[in-house]
Amino acid sequence: MEKVNVAQIKQDDQKYVLHSWSKQKNVHPKVIQKGEGIFFWDEEGKKYYDMCSQLVYLNVGHSHPKLMDEFKHIGEIPLASPGFATASKAELAKKIIEAAPSSMAKVFFANGGADSNDHAVKIARMVTGRYKIFSRYRSYHGATFGAGNLSGEGRRFAVEPGLPGFIKFDTPYLYREFLHFESEEAVSDYYLDRLNSQILYEGPEQIAAIFMEPIPGSNGVLVPPKGYLEGIRELCDQYGILMICDEVMSGFGRTGKMFAVDHFDFEPDMMTFAKGVTCGYSPLGGVIVNQKIADYFDDHVLMTGLTYSGHTVSTQIGCRTMDIYKEEHVIEHSAAMGNILAARLEKLRRFDSVGDVRYIGLFAAVELVKDKKTKEPLIAYGMDYGKDKVGLMSTFISMLSEYGFYTYSHESSVIIAPPLIISEEELNEAMNLFEDVLRHFEDHVLFVDQTVGLK
Ligand SMILES: Cc1ncc(COP(=O)(O)O)c(C=O)c1O
Repeated sequence: MEKVNVAQIKQDDQKYVLHSWSKQKNVHPKVIQKGEGIFFWDEEGKKYYDMCSQLVYLNVGHSHPKLMDEFKHIGEIPLASPGFATASKAELAKKIIEAAPSSMAKVFFANGGADSNDHAVKIARMVTGRYKIFSRYRSYHGATFGAGNLSGEGRRFAVEPGLPGFIKFDTPYLYREFLHFESEEAVSDYYLDRLNSQILYEGPEQIAAIFMEPIPGSNGVLVPPKGYLEGIRELCDQYGILMICDEVMSGFGRTGKMFAVDHFDFEPDMMTFAKGVTCGYSPLGGVIVNQKIADYFDDHVLMTGLTYSGHTVSTQIGCRTMDIYKEEHVIEHSAAMGNILAARLEKLRRFDSVGDVRYIGLFAAVELVKDKKTKEPLIAYGMDYGKDKVGLMSTFISMLSEYGFYTYSHESSVIIAPPLIISEEELNEAMNLFEDVLRHFEDHVLFVDQTVGLK
């Protein structure tokens, strides 16, 4: 890429583009020159390990040859609005249902994660005739009005005061749990009991759905305690509430299985998906519904729709992405590399700044603290949005980037979620870099003078 073009791109970007979740004066984006596998190169030719798969969507890596090749055939496919049946829409829906838990029956296609969640809420309300929706603190479900109301963290504040009937409950967060529990099951019992009370306080007959990321992702990969999700399923059955799992980030192999729910002993009524279905090569999302819900709409109008529902290009890319998962054993590889990552993460516990590591498959978070004993977080809750991008965490993320390790953070957790095709060697190289940065950060920033790097 020629320098002159890069300067022009940056100048036009600064002048004309609004960037998400940021004060615009603080945004100085790099330009990606090329990407290949788990790597990308910026405009200066600097190479990065993409350790968050851009926004946790590039499961099959940058510039996958089979997907690049598929784009050459896109022009041959006739465009069709949602009322038409198309080969790619039918094929992809079939592939998704075959990969999903056995009770799942049909797919409604949307454009991305947030609007898929909006549609799941609408479907739950239509099917149950109830209006309240429960979702959790420490969750992210997207930025549209509906999904924003579902989200249980600071990024929802822009949609507040929120929609009536959106109720939040607490997520088990073992590392920061105040009470002492004898076992994971005891933690689950405690949280389920509290949720049961909340359901009763809100009136079970008013509650359409409990909405949750089975494993909250950007809020720090909070793997649930044993029996927790199964217990939520039981509560839903008891009160006739639908259980909806948001698999937008955790789906399509991220956790070492096709869907995060596959790790547990229950099936939800609906699942939402996006990201990994096309690995971001074209935008696509959707809602998977079980047989009961599918049957309901045989005789009731599905009162929703989108111009691009089942868009031909995106569903075509989705079909090939699903083929790649199968042909290249991507999900199995993710599980194997997850074991390597787990071992590397456990070794990080010896660092004074590492409070906790959480992981499942290639979905991981490293939670940093200023003091291991008091668990004082690197950044106080809610201080990483809408504020100037300064502070210890942004210093740490910048240092990682300088070393060629690209990722992002949320509060005090650094997300590690590389493309699922990463090799053992690449994973070890990247984690060596991470350790080098941690060492440097502790020696020269964190435990020296906490104001260094803040200027
Ligand atoms: C769990 C989850 N749900 C929903 C979304 C929103 O997806 P999108 O940005 O495609 O609307 C995200 C985005 O990161 C997510 O992680």
